[in-house]
Amino acid sequence: MVTMTVNGVRREIQSPTNTPLLYVLRNDLELSGPQFGCGLAQCGSCSVLLDGKEIRSCVTPLSAASGKEVTTLEGLPARWAQQKGLSKSDAEKTLHPIQQAWIEEQAPLCGFCQNGMMIKATELLEHVARPTVAEIKEAFTTSGPSPHLCRCGSYTAIIQAVERAAAVMAKGR
Ligand code: FES
Ligand code: FES
Repeated sequence: MVTMTVNGVRREIQSPTNTPLLYVLRNDLELSGPQFGCGLAQCGSCSVLLDGKEIRSCVTPLSAASGKEVTTLEGLPARWAQQKGLSKSDAEKTLHPIQQAWIEEQAPLCGFCQNGMMIKATELLEHVARPTVAEIKEAFTTSGPSPHLCRCGSYTAIIQAVERAAAVMAKGR
């Protein structure tokens, strides 16, 4: 058995410890944010945060999450609410600024890759408040095991969405 915290809730998982974390999240916990794209750490669609660091859940065994904190796309609003100290009622109607920026910039096309894009953006903006375009490009291309791929080519909108979210998140820091 593996115990981990997923989106703020302690979970005890009975699956074999070498089960890919992605399968546990999607099949056992019914979290459909992380997507199965390549299954080989080559596209980024399955990304989640593990103790705040973006990982590819398709190649991460369940055992690697033992005792750690996993945040999926579904957990971003609560993560933001906790960071900002929002009240429970405000938190319930608040998206993470990254999600809001993605909507306002209409970043997704088919949408399949966008989970990983938003997770990567979260990791970046939690460490670099106002990244340059070069830093954004670097985060999405060379900072992980492989670049985050978008078959639809929404890269320009993604960069604009990151910049929009950064402006909101940087307020009051
Ligand atoms: S599905 Fe995990 S990196 Fe592609
Ligand atoms: S929006 Fe379709 S793969 Fe990125």
